[in-house]
Amino acid sequence: MYLENLVLKNYRNYETLNVRFQNGINILQGKNAAGKTNVLEAIGFLSYGKSFRTQKDTECIKDGCEAAYIKGGIMRTQGQLSVEALLSRQDKKSLKVSGQPARKMGELFGNFIAVVFSPEDIKVLKESPALRRRFIDMEISKLRPIYFYDLQEYYKALAQKNALLRSRMKQEQLGKLVSVYNEQLAQHGEKIILQRRSFLQRIEELSRAIHRDLSAGETLSLRYKSSVKSGDIRQTLYDKMEKSLASEIEQGFCLYGPHREDIAVSLDNSEIKAYSSQGQIRTAMLSLKLATLDVASADFGESPVLLLDDVFSELDEARQAALLSRIKDTQCFITTAVPMGSVAGAVYTVENGMLKS
Ligand SMILES: Nc1ncnc2c1ncn2[C@@H]1O[C@H](COP(=O)(O)OP(=O)(O)OP(=O)(O)O)[C@@H](O)[C@H]1O
Ligand SMILES: [Mg+2]
Repeated sequence: MYLENLVLKNYRNYETLNVRFQNGINILQGKNAAGKTNVLEAIGFLSYGKSFRTQKDTECIKDGCEAAYIKGGIMRTQGQLSVEALLSRQDKKSLKVSGQPARKMGELFGNFIAVVFSPEDIKVLKESPALRRRFIDMEISKLRPIYFYDLQEYYKALAQKNALLRSRMKQEQLGKLVSVYNEQLAQHGEKIILQRRSFLQRIEELSRAIHRDLSAGETLSLRYKSSVKSGDIRQTLYDKMEKSLASEIEQGFCLYGPHREDIAVSLDNSEIKAYSSQGQIRTAMLSLKLATLDVASADFGESPVLLLDDVFSELDEARQAALLSRIKDTQCFITTAVPMGSVAGAVYTVENGMLKS
């Protein structure tokens, strides 16, 4: 699939923008603060229903304006579609797919699929498990909207259970109420764990091959630190939660389940740490992202769009070449502050809230 054109109104530093893109490599080139990442962010919005830079939608509305609008015209093998997002300071955001309101995120996911890779992403490997969980949860949600539903139900039940645990109710009465939530958590938790397991198995193999290619020989491996390793997941989760009621009351939150899981990422058998080299971490993260791109390509029968923010120019020439040969059939957007003479693609100059080709 590819993004044919993009319309922006009062989005970040753009008052109006209407631009056509190539089904190939699109290079957005311009000075710092020109608005390159803003364009990528807007494209990503059409895929994720939110910004990859901020949780606050209103930050994306141009200063002094009430609302921002994004529309993308998308070409897929089965035909054209459009995705629109209207962000307002007053009302809830509204999303539409080919003119039809998408009331839930699940109705948006799977229409326009983009994989973003930005410098911020190396945090996924350097910082807390929450970021790694968010990474796989978002990637799986794009592929399987039903997964997003299970996550939402799981986190709803979790919040209610945690509130109960802190309610100072008598343990006996509390235990009965908590059990009801434990059943729901185990039911949705099992589905989450099964999806995470199968997704990680798929990207492990792919990302290993990609990383070997990009890094000239280093071995990347993934290990899912799951809350239940084998057997009846639902029953085991439920039993673990039931048994730990006393400590859960003491700590004030639920101690087991998908919300406590992690993924260990290793290079040549040693786990990536905050002090691994920047280049190593960046390449590992890029390999994981490209693996998710391959998984989505296989599931949808066509490649998603790849958004590379500022990362391409930081790869050495060999890595750049290895990357380009991998994404031949993928529409790709590359932002750069320095001209990239060696890469063949449509070049857009970003300046004063405008794009010139
Ligand atoms: N809500 C907003 N309203 C108006 N302008 C905004 C808003 N949000 C961001 N900007 C402006 O957008 C510009 C930054 O754009 P962007 O992050 O896309 O730059 P960039 O070209 O990617 O730069 P760099 O090369 O440094 O990454 C800044 O000048 C910032 O002030
Ligand atoms: Mg930028």
